[in-house]
Amino acid sequence: MNLINEAGYELWLRYRPIEDAGRLAQYRNAIGSAAVLGATGTDEVIKRELARALPVLLEGTIPVLERPGGAALVAGTLEALAAAGVTVSPEQLGGEGFLLRSQSDSLIITGHSSSAVLTGIFHFLRLLQTHQDIRSLNYLSRPKVRHRILAHWDNLDGSVERGYAGHSLWDWDRLPAKVDARYHDYARACASLGLNGTCLNNVNANVESLTPGYLQKAAALADVFRAYGIHVYLSPNFSAPMQLGGLATSDPRDPAVAHWWNQKVNEIYQLIPDFGGFQVKADSEGQPGPQDYGASHDDGANMLADALAPHGGIVLWRAFVYDTSVDLDRAKCAHKEFVPLDGKFRPNVAVQVKNGAIDFQPREPFHPLFGAMPRTALALELQVTQEYLGQSCHLVYLGGMWKEILDSDTYAKGAGSTVARVVDGSLEAHALSCIIGVANTGTDPNWCGHHFSQANWYAFGRLAWDYSLSAEEIADEWIRLTWSHDSSVVEALTAMMLGSWEACINYMTPLGLHHLMQAGHHYGPDPGFNGAKRADWNNVYFHRADAEGLGFDRSRHGSEAVSQYQPPLSEQFNNLDTCPETFLLWFHHVSWEHHLQSGQTLWEELQARYGSGIAFVERIRVVWQSLQAHVDPERHAQVARRLEHQLENARLWREVCLTYFAQFSRKTYT
Ligand code: GCU
Repeated sequence: MNLINEAGYELWLRYRPIEDAGRLAQYRNAIGSAAVLGATGTDEVIKRELARALPVLLEGTIPVLERPGGAALVAGTLEALAAAGVTVSPEQLGGEGFLLRSQSDSLIITGHSSSAVLTGIFHFLRLLQTHQDIRSLNYLSRPKVRHRILAHWDNLDGSVERGYAGHSLWDWDRLPAKVDARYHDYARACASLGLNGTCLNNVNANVESLTPGYLQKAAALADVFRAYGIHVYLSPNFSAPMQLGGLATSDPRDPAVAHWWNQKVNEIYQLIPDFGGFQVKADSEGQPGPQDYGASHDDGANMLADALAPHGGIVLWRAFVYDTSVDLDRAKCAHKEFVPLDGKFRPNVAVQVKNGAIDFQPREPFHPLFGAMPRTALALELQVTQEYLGQSCHLVYLGGMWKEILDSDTYAKGAGSTVARVVDGSLEAHALSCIIGVANTGTDPNWCGHHFSQANWYAFGRLAWDYSLSAEEIADEWIRLTWSHDSSVVEALTAMMLGSWEACINYMTPLGLHHLMQAGHHYGPDPGFNGAKRADWNNVYFHRADAEGLGFDRSRHGSEAVSQYQPPLSEQFNNLDTCPETFLLWFHHVSWEHHLQSGQTLWEELQARYGSGIAFVERIRVVWQSLQAHVDPERHAQVARRLEHQLENARLWREVCLTYFAQFSRKTYT
């Protein structure tokens, strides 16, 4: 096969002729033309997408019309359809849901709004791209979570905090005058997954982002994104009233401060009428916040919420706080600070909680705040960019990690009180629900650095819309959209992707170990690191290796972090014999001689885990080589090079960690 080189720019919107002759005939038969009813900006986006996709997929001329006629795809809001004489019962579409339905000789794609129709269009195109049967369609889908946001940790100088794929997508220097065509492609990619928000700037916020000049730049982006159903959010710097407004304080209880924010928010809505709201990092890692003035998180969040409420905006108030005066175990701090504030936040505030209590580690138990604040909407923050998971050098598919978190049972209201149900608001009947993913995008031609990192952007978006999808279904879809339909390729890549997360855990931080990465950039191993000014910024703080054993004792004999979970989990985690081995060294300081389920001692098991992680990478390297004939040379070579590097790095992890731990275990390793 002669495969043409690809840069990976098209992502999963890679339209190619349908190779399956049977399906092609079916599609051609059903889609003689396409009618898009409506003339909003979003309708124009729909027309453009259909005009781009259909002629390529179906290898023929498919006219995109304004009125239905013949065997046609008909796209429009329920209202537009009714005006054109097409009746569809609305059923339970909700604000953003869409319906795909075969009706007489038409294929109807509809929803209450044009954005809902756009989501439906992308879903339909995905059905074609993945060669699904489209006869007798009757498919209704609505998002489980209301606000589905990509958060960019992008700085105004073009750098990206924890970005591994080039520079920021936002060309701040040239905005608002120059609007890069790439902004449209970014929005298409997000819209194709049903994402509906983007937070433009780093949570470690430069106050300049709220100046009139930068707001105009943000407005230019919002003007592009609007037609794709994407709302713009910003991360404000909490001390902006002082830094920009010249006030003597930024105390949220001061009426002058509240007034300043009201004015600022009004100014934002003048420029961006559909502005989504603020994502705030306050009193965290040196960022200013209400505590600087003796005020509390709810004072800060509510003041901003009150300014945003008249416009329909929300506040995402981050709970990533770990003040050691609150507790010496960093994992406990956020729970201790936020649980007492439950019920004090305005209805348009969500407290934004990372998946785990430390910091986006390869694997963490779910954050104990989930299920612990019933009267507060809790947003889930996931990290798409692989800060602690090999960055853009390692092939690590995160679908399984996010599913593990979403499916975790908090037991807050008995069995079945999953994190997903806390986050979607259904457990406690909250109207506000949000999921946020820290983006992995940049100016690299393939957007994400590693071709396979695109899968994490894809999986985040798909799960944000519908967390009941499995990691495997999502991987299967993405592979067909991105690489090939050949069943041997799909099977091989699915196995590679699905095993990759567990393998990474094994060669980096097996059995519940965490935070062993090199300081600062967090790439590569350095378990002995002990040079930071704060104890909990040192790796020795997290693993606590000594002559007795290894691991952080968070049981009732130790820091008692286990007690922040609800029973029966608190008991299960507390007991060395019932604690899942995945979290053993997270919750326990375990003797080197302790026997695990395998019958091996901790020391032997550690070696086995590191070994199996490496063996997995060795295997996928070989599998990837065997796929050479099925993948274009450019993408094949790029992934192959990264897999070589991943293997070297995995071996280094084992070498460095076992050599280091051997000093304490006083045992050798082979
Ligand atoms: C991590 C990350 C920081 C980031 C912080 C946050 O600690 O390393 O770069 O600012 O998380 O989420 O605020």
